[in-house]
Amino acid sequence: MLSRIVNKDSLNLNKNDRPGLLLSQIVIDFQKHPLALHERKRERLFTCDTYEIVLMHWGPGSSTVLHGHGGSDCFMKILSGSLIEKRFRPFSNTLQEENFLAAGMDTYICDEESFHTLHSEQEAVSLHIYSKPLAFLQVLDHASNSWENREPQIF
Ligand SMILES: [Fe+2]
Repeated sequence: MLSRIVNKDSLNLNKNDRPGLLLSQIVIDFQKHPLALHERKRERLFTCDTYEIVLMHWGPGSSTVLHGHGGSDCFMKILSGSLIEKRFRPFSNTLQEENFLAAGMDTYICDEESFHTLHSEQEAVSLHIYSKPLAFLQVLDHASNSWENREPQIF
């Protein structure tokens, strides 16, 4: 299980915590890192009515599709490896910027400003805090060329 790399004592959380500050509070022990996972994996560490915390593993060459975050604020920190993020104007293919996110870096994105894609060339692990908890993602369906709301597990 991916979540075994998280120090449980650092998950002493409550719903009044400020999500952006939690990125530095959660302690990861990479001595317990699972070996050579090649697929994308997504594991929820904690949820309450104000935010949720999700750990993601990225296999080499894995990517998301272009997506928004269903109105939730998204705080993200790279724990190991690196990710390439491309930001787009919401509900469009208009590229705003491309960011190289190295281990230790954190970032923030919200639907009013940008949607994004994430890509990993090599194995990576990232921590995501969504406030409110992620209800759905806005995803472009290429077959119909229209935006759909999808369950977070699918993207
Ligand atoms: Fe995202």
